[in-house]
Amino acid sequence: MPVIAVVGGQWGDEGKGKVIDSLAEKAKVVVRFSGGDNAGHTVINPSGEFRMHLVPSGIFYPGVTCIIGNGVVINPAVLLEELDNLKKHAVDASRLVISDRAHLTMPYHTLLDGLEEERRGKGALGTTRRGIGPAFADKVARMGIRTGDLINKDLFHSKLSSILEFKNAILTKVYGHSPLLLEEIFEQYCRYGEQLAPFIQETNSVIHQSLARGEIVLLEGAQGTLLDPDFGTYPYVTSSSPLAGGGSIGAGISPMAFNRIIGVFKAYITRVGSGPMPTELKDKIGELIRKKGHEYGATTGRPRRCGWFDAVAGRFSAQVNGFSDIALTHLDIFDGFPSIKICTAYEFNGETLNYFPSDSSILEKCQPVHEELSGWQGSTRGIRNFDQLPSEARRYINRLEELLSCPISFVAVGSKREQVIEVRPILP
Ligand code: IMO
Ligand code: MG
Repeated sequence: MPVIAVVGGQWGDEGKGKVIDSLAEKAKVVVRFSGGDNAGHTVINPSGEFRMHLVPSGIFYPGVTCIIGNGVVINPAVLLEELDNLKKHAVDASRLVISDRAHLTMPYHTLLDGLEEERRGKGALGTTRRGIGPAFADKVARMGIRTGDLINKDLFHSKLSSILEFKNAILTKVYGHSPLLLEEIFEQYCRYGEQLAPFIQETNSVIHQSLARGEIVLLEGAQGTLLDPDFGTYPYVTSSSPLAGGGSIGAGISPMAFNRIIGVFKAYITRVGSGPMPTELKDKIGELIRKKGHEYGATTGRPRRCGWFDAVAGRFSAQVNGFSDIALTHLDIFDGFPSIKICTAYEFNGETLNYFPSDSSILEKCQPVHEELSGWQGSTRGIRNFDQLPSEARRYINRLEELLSCPISFVAVGSKREQVIEVRPILP
């Protein structure tokens, strides 16, 4: 029963969508297990160019069942829009299954996310303002509404009415905002419920029947390890676990069933939103990476902060996830760079740190210690074979493998589906 988790190794936007789009051809099930529509997975394939926020990136293969797992929070309006867009591109999304345990993002979540960011002022976290933090907070506080609740309208009405009473007290008394109207939200969400009802079901049996048949199940991570609420740069993190371990809980699959855990890393590193980033380049090189890599948020359009590959953070990420393989993306962005740097340690208060500090105020003051490697000339975009890469590119890849103690099995040299070098087969 091969379960393969595909997880972000950095601060998100590593190219998880592309890796899933490439691996899903041989899979039977793809499950999203965390986050919500804060995710923006870019997929470019013969059906077109897509930014997947909630629908798993395996939806383009007719034989693949795509599950939005219990660990995801769903904004139904965004999901319906995404389904509409797929339909416009003649992509059949009838194999979508939505866990009845997945929580919903409600209008008060998005509103409170924005109000809280305003209140933080200069200390804003730079969230995507999609209501993700407030929705996960309510889940844990036991006052969330789940997709399954939309099916029973009486029960939904009574839950919503008691929750909204509390939310309106916060909106009006803490933030001086006008209250939200119960009947308006109720009717809107009942309409969403009617449209989504055909997809909503208990998903445990779907996943476990597939595993019992020995089929390949892919777990599609969202966000990245350095945004994990426990292991990321707290409080500049997201609100659900993007780790492989999060995949176990967010999909309902035993850790014993995992065969491979693929960490997706860009050949450099990016971050959107606030928080420490030791290798950030605020110079022309950072600009060049942003321009060549089209480093603008798929969800918010914000310019991403760009920097050299951080192998200290990368090693930490490989450890907490237990990566069996790495998928390295955007290698082609370095085509033509005279030299490339890798951060191999941090300097803090005159001392060398070889680990990723848990305290963001320390990480903020860490200076990267760099190692410089020669770059390569010419384009890697047409290369499909590891041995045909320029020797400097191979050297760069091998050095990252050494620093992270993990093999790089997959290299992306462009955004299209076929622009991939399979160094070692990931799937049987
Ligand atoms: P994918 O799946 C990159 C970041 C936000 C912010 C922080 C908290 O495309 O890799 P949130 O809205 O989650 O409360 O914001 O997390 N963030 C992401 N950054 N890629 C993502 O998803 C992200 N999802 C959230 O920018 O810094
Ligand atoms: Mg993204």
